[in-house]
Amino acid sequence: MTNHHHRYCALLLVTVSSVLIMLYYTSVHVIPGDHLPWKPPESRIYMHTNRSSIEVEEADNQLGSNVSTSGGLTNSSVEKPKERETSPLQKFHYYARQIPEESVAEKKFLADQAAVQSVPTEAPGWVYNKTGADLFRKRLVGDSRFANGNFLVTQQTVNKSGLMTHSENHDNITVPEKVFNGFPKESPFKNKHFNTCSVVGNGGILKGSGCGKEIDASEFVFRFNMAPMGDKYSRDIVNKTNLITINPSMIDYRYTKGKGKGIDVKSLTHDLSAYRDSYLWIWALLSQSNARSAFKVQEALQGASARNQVNVIFPYPLVTGAIISFWKKHISAQRPSSGLLLASLATQMCEEVRLYGFWPFHADRNNRRLTQHYYGNALPTKVHKIPLELRQLQILHNNGIVRLTTHPCQ
Ligand SMILES: *[C@@H]1O[C@H](CO)[C@@H](O)[C@H](O)[C@H]1NC(C)=O
Ligand SMILES: *[C@@H]1O[C@H](CO)[C@@H](O)[C@H](O)[C@H]1NC(C)=O
Ligand SMILES: *[C@@H]1O[C@H](CO)[C@@H](O)[C@H](O)[C@H]1NC(C)=O
Ligand SMILES: *[C@@H]1O[C@H](CO)[C@@H](O)[C@H](O)[C@H]1NC(C)=O
Ligand SMILES: *[C@@H]1O[C@H](CO)[C@@H](O)[C@H](O)[C@H]1NC(C)=O
Ligand SMILES: *[C@@H]1O[C@H](CO)[C@@H](O)[C@H](O)[C@H]1NC(C)=O
Ligand SMILES: *[C@@H]1O[C@H](CO)[C@@H](O)[C@H](O)[C@H]1NC(C)=O
Repeated sequence: MTNHHHRYCALLLVTVSSVLIMLYYTSVHVIPGDHLPWKPPESRIYMHTNRSSIEVEEADNQLGSNVSTSGGLTNSSVEKPKERETSPLQKFHYYARQIPEESVAEKKFLADQAAVQSVPTEAPGWVYNKTGADLFRKRLVGDSRFANGNFLVTQQTVNKSGLMTHSENHDNITVPEKVFNGFPKESPFKNKHFNTCSVVGNGGILKGSGCGKEIDASEFVFRFNMAPMGDKYSRDIVNKTNLITINPSMIDYRYTKGKGKGIDVKSLTHDLSAYRDSYLWIWALLSQSNARSAFKVQEALQGASARNQVNVIFPYPLVTGAIISFWKKHISAQRPSSGLLLASLATQMCEEVRLYGFWPFHADRNNRRLTQHYYGNALPTKVHKIPLELRQLQILHNNGIVRLTTHPCQ
């Protein structure tokens, strides 16, 4: 056969198999929360992914992780951040030590290249399904007290004498008076309905995606874990931010002056200025030690100058707990990633939720090599199972509940 024939056959094969996969996928009309109509995914589509990329999130991004602070370990030979840019993560010892050697990175790439072959594409022609999305919203947050954007800690929902964490042992956290006074009187998202929201994961797939314009076109933009912003990312992620999250572990290694010491408010407010007037969302209430870090930040920022005022918000632990339980029914992982949690919560205040940067592999569908994050290659620890999460998001996409983008934008 000629080369041409080869190519033709290959093309035919690819087309036939993607049609089959597409049929398989689009014929499934379920709302996650019902039983899943297929076998546990480990043994099926993602069977090659085991070693390479199961456990994916920020290296510095474990809700409730046990990270020792490395205050003072900054590397002064690294460039200083410019105005409106966050300081380079590489200068933090904890982050830097998760960056793999080239040989390891290459192995990951090769393994993921193989894995990606068996990841189906999302169904084409996405259309928002309001009925389905409303059903999903209800399943996620069944308790009507927390519905309609009421999912934050507020002065009304919290009892000073004890705010229960959603850890297994239901510790009660005492809320200091000053922290309590810093809680919003009521949820700023109460009864807010944004028509379009972008939730921007930090995946390496965003690099070179050209998705920035599309992301910023949404009415409300969520971003994660103080991900670096700045000119060099502008085509791919741009800069509109309405809500930025931070994880307690990052507070500890990046903004704590040393073990047992206070918050480095100056660095924090400098870095926060990149996100302008956004809400700072702290994943705080998983455990007592998380809460302590989070409350320290909230208090410290209350003392910041008016120019640097930041609205610190906390998801209500009962709600986060319910969402974690919800997803644990579908994904066998220690717990869902903060990406999945926030994407889920976004549906509570947004009609059309658009997801970008949710792609856990070190290769894209065109065999392009990707870094872990669009801004760096630090590898995560092994708490989450993100390929399984991707699959859940694909189901949501195919049912018109959220819109997932895993390809370059036009
Ligand atoms: C893949 O992961 C499963 C569950 O974590 C484990 O039981 C199995 O041994 C792993 N397989 C390989 C080839 O690593
Ligand atoms: C945190 O890590 C230290 C040292 O690795 C260990 O001694 C301690 O028990 C850990 N704490 C928790 C809560 O896991
Ligand atoms: C500081 O950063 C430079 C450049 O990235 C690197 O070569 C050096 O090893 C780093 N030093 C420490 C102590 O991490
Ligand atoms: C929208 O979702 C509902 C609820 O799951 C489902 O019954 C309906 O068929 C879906 N509509 C479309 C057009 O897919
Ligand atoms: C707050 O906690 C106290 C002591 O546990 C309890 O008596 C009180 O009813 C609680 N208030 C609310 C609003 O839950
Ligand atoms: C925490 O508080 C709740 C109600 O405020 C109570 O039911 C629970 O027993 C408390 N847990 C602990 C560990 O004290
Ligand atoms: C975002 O970037 C554009 C152009 O690069 C700039 O004009 C605009 O001021 C920036 N917006 C924010 C919120 O930083």
